[in-house]
Amino acid sequence: MERLRAAIVGSGGMAHTRASHLTKLERTSVVCVSSRNAVTGRGVAERYNVPFIDDWRQAVTRDDVDAVFVTTHNDSHAAIAEAALEAGKHVFIEYPIATTLEDADRLIALARARARVLHIGHDHAGVGWHLGIKGAATELGKLLAVNGVLATPSRGGGRSVWRNRRLSGPPLMVGIAYVFHLLDLFGPVAWVEGTCAYDGLDDAGYYRSSVTTLTAAFAAGGMAQLLYIRGFAVPRDEQEQAMMFTNGFLSYRGYVSGSHSSEGHLTRVTRAGSQRVAFPEVALAQASRENTERFVAEVMDGTTVSPAVHLARDAVAVALAAEQSAEHGGRVTLERRD
Ligand SMILES: NC(=O)c1ccc[n+]([C@@H]2O[C@H](COP(=O)([O-])OP(=O)(O)OC[C@H]3O[C@@H](n4cnc5c(N)ncnc54)[C@H](OP(=O)(O)O)[C@@H]3O)[C@@H](O)[C@H]2O)c1
Repeated sequence: MERLRAAIVGSGGMAHTRASHLTKLERTSVVCVSSRNAVTGRGVAERYNVPFIDDWRQAVTRDDVDAVFVTTHNDSHAAIAEAALEAGKHVFIEYPIATTLEDADRLIALARARARVLHIGHDHAGVGWHLGIKGAATELGKLLAVNGVLATPSRGGGRSVWRNRRLSGPPLMVGIAYVFHLLDLFGPVAWVEGTCAYDGLDDAGYYRSSVTTLTAAFAAGGMAQLLYIRGFAVPRDEQEQAMMFTNGFLSYRGYVSGSHSSEGHLTRVTRAGSQRVAFPEVALAQASRENTERFVAEVMDGTTVSPAVHLARDAVAVALAAEQSAEHGGRVTLERRD
């Protein structure tokens, strides 16, 4: 394939982000935009001078489309991706891969059966703070325990699709980038316990804020404890992490997303003393662009299901298990993936 021709489904923030990457790359182009929102959909289509298509089913089956970028809300990722894979297209899905494990597994199996690339937009795994922690962790031995606090702002406090349990899934599904971060560092999880307190949860699934706790045991050993606060009055996504390993301690304080994601402090403490650890200055915008480029390279080079897809699926399993534990109590054991 000389040129990868992409359809973008959705017309919000991530649609713009991916379309801008694709129009700047040499070997790719956007050939159409589809969204349920005709106003913003036409806006994106006009900006890139391509047709707007109301019905995403038509967009994902077009002969002039090689790849589909699914940039819609979480509840429609699986259906759109499945139709695109069925039509023989390569698929890039913004996180989460799907909101149920059955859907995630079906998509992975379908991509494998059709020999098509399935790639998930876990851009945060390329951000400087994640790379820095990953690099520092490999020198400190085995993980004993990680303790994290993550707080995301309410951005105005009104009703938001991202604080709607039905449309977006439980809070950790929205914070899935952070779950993915832990799995990328420490591997699959054996069991999960969780709690979740919603403020103002209504019949339509909307809530004002939520406080989630997650306790997870990694299959390879070591524990994670996470406090995840959504809709609180912080100006931007903030995080603190403390990690104890057999040979030392790591601490990180900083921001998760946006241009501030390179501003955190990473510190290593060993018997030799305490040291500030520099990490690559890769903010989320650059990591996103690199992730789009990775997908394009996978298509052009003939890779199909990359290992990161399985991690994306496992992250969904952890988010759902935490919600199940929060609702019904007790420990949820995760099935080992082959
Ligand atoms: N990689 C990252 O850093 C990152 C950052 C933020 C979000 N995300 C993920 O990216 C996805 C999109 O987020 P966003 O911030 O771009 O959201 P957004 O700005 O709200 O845009 C979503 C777009 O999809 C449209 N849409 C929703 N459901 C649809 C459906 N069933 N059929 C057709 N179009 C549909 C929406 O239309 P309406 O205008 O009618 O709602 C809107 O145009 C989410 O899954 C999120 O988890 C990733």
